[in-house]
Amino acid sequence: MSVRHFLTLLDLDTKELNSLVSRAVELKAIQQRGEIYTPLKNKVLGMVFEKSSTRTRVSFETAMIQFGGQAIFLSPRDTQLGRGEIIEDSARVLSRMLDAIMIRTYEHDKVQLFSEYSRVPVINGLTDLYHPCQLLADMQTFVEHRGSIAGKTVCYVGDGNNMCHSFINAARQFEFKLHIAAPPAYEPDADIVAAAGERVAIFHDPREAVEGAHMVTTDVWASMGQESEQSKREADFTGFRVTRKLMKLADADALFMHCLPAHRGEEVDADVIDGPQSVVWDEAENRLHAQKSLLEFLLT
Ligand code: CP
Ligand code: NVA
Repeated sequence: MSVRHFLTLLDLDTKELNSLVSRAVELKAIQQRGEIYTPLKNKVLGMVFEKSSTRTRVSFETAMIQFGGQAIFLSPRDTQLGRGEIIEDSARVLSRMLDAIMIRTYEHDKVQLFSEYSRVPVINGLTDLYHPCQLLADMQTFVEHRGSIAGKTVCYVGDGNNMCHSFINAARQFEFKLHIAAPPAYEPDADIVAAAGERVAIFHDPREAVEGAHMVTTDVWASMGQESEQSKREADFTGFRVTRKLMKLADADALFMHCLPAHRGEEVDADVIDGPQSVVWDEAENRLHAQKSLLEFLLT
């Protein structure tokens, strides 16, 4: 069988994704019981980071160590990747030494091209277009707190960015309804929205979008690489903050999630992210368990 990659949530089918999430719940229990489980002994994951990371780096590295393998952190600053060695050659060389490669970069085309020349699984650790690993953890978190997400309504408030695009794919694959509230100039990619058909609805008023939602989520207004647009975006996103008042319009049992890092007082108020409906710390922890499940699926 040809090698499987995980560049977007569309690389796995619904059944595979649901079993990945169930397995993540089991792997978490195994870890919490203190059982040693090392299915990836002697396996090595390469991690290419062209952007900063706390959660993604530490969760993948910890996952490999706990699984009996190793992870190598590769920064473009200290490798030939940062000196213009082409992606095709880098992919051919790295994939002859490593067992899997995780990449965090800007252009999604780069991970796509890398995967075409890689003999081993390539995992998207975030691009400008998608952040699929985060969604595995988010789905696990919902399932742990509320059971299946199929048929439920999720509301994403904010920028039509990589997180928003991965939520759109998640709505397709995990079969929930997604309401997106974004300012008109910051709507998600029209093709990605169109491909999701009835699963996605776009709003310009967060109060309408959030109505009846079983989960409310948001993300930063200026993503990595958009730092120079910070003040313009702060003005353009006025009214798109997740406040307690907004949460009250959602389902009474609605969960709040955020991929983190968060900016309290910008996209979310402190009394929401630090409040009783927030599950952001479970969500962050689940990056570890969900990615262990992904690594086990791709490598064993
Ligand atoms: N949510 C997330 O991917 O966090 P990091 O940027 O810290 O990896
Ligand atoms: N949209 C954010 C997500 C960070 C995990 C960014 O790309 O910076």
